[in-house]
Amino acid sequence: MTHSKTITLTVNGKAVTAAVEPRTHLADFLRERQLLTGTHLGCEHGVCGACTILIDGEPARSCITLAVACDGHAVTTVEGLDGDPVAADLREAFSTEHGLQCGFCTPGMLVSARDVVLRRPTADDNQIRVEMSGNLCRCTGYVGIVNAIRRVLDARKTAAE
Ligand code: FES
Ligand code: FES
Repeated sequence: MTHSKTITLTVNGKAVTAAVEPRTHLADFLRERQLLTGTHLGCEHGVCGACTILIDGEPARSCITLAVACDGHAVTTVEGLDGDPVAADLREAFSTEHGLQCGFCTPGMLVSARDVVLRRPTADDNQIRVEMSGNLCRCTGYVGIVNAIRRVLDARKTAAE
């Protein structure tokens, strides 16, 4: 590997040090070097949202993020949300509301949906659609996805009363 740079970051809470080529994008680094294949690659140019992960808790597109730019940062993939209570509620709601068919978009959908639930607790259906507009799905027509997020928001509202 020529001109590689050594980076240190945390991936799903685990410290990782690795030599990477400057051109390697984060999604390839996660999938091929960390074997975290839950992060999917669709368009590879920042449009479809399938590759959405968290960097320091903020959603980002790993296909247009260079791995070297994550030096010193914390990356969380869908695998890292296994024990997260909001992600658990969303997984169940996506299943109940038929928010997935082939499932290709689902990891990115879950990462973005979790962010919406945490950041927009009072979002109506239209706001959910706008917030999720950076995640494309070729199968569902989106109704089930919106209903799943609605279900989680409503349950959290009821629980807080
Ligand atoms: S694969 Fe990254 S936005 Fe489509
Ligand atoms: S469930 Fe197939 S792309 Fe969304």
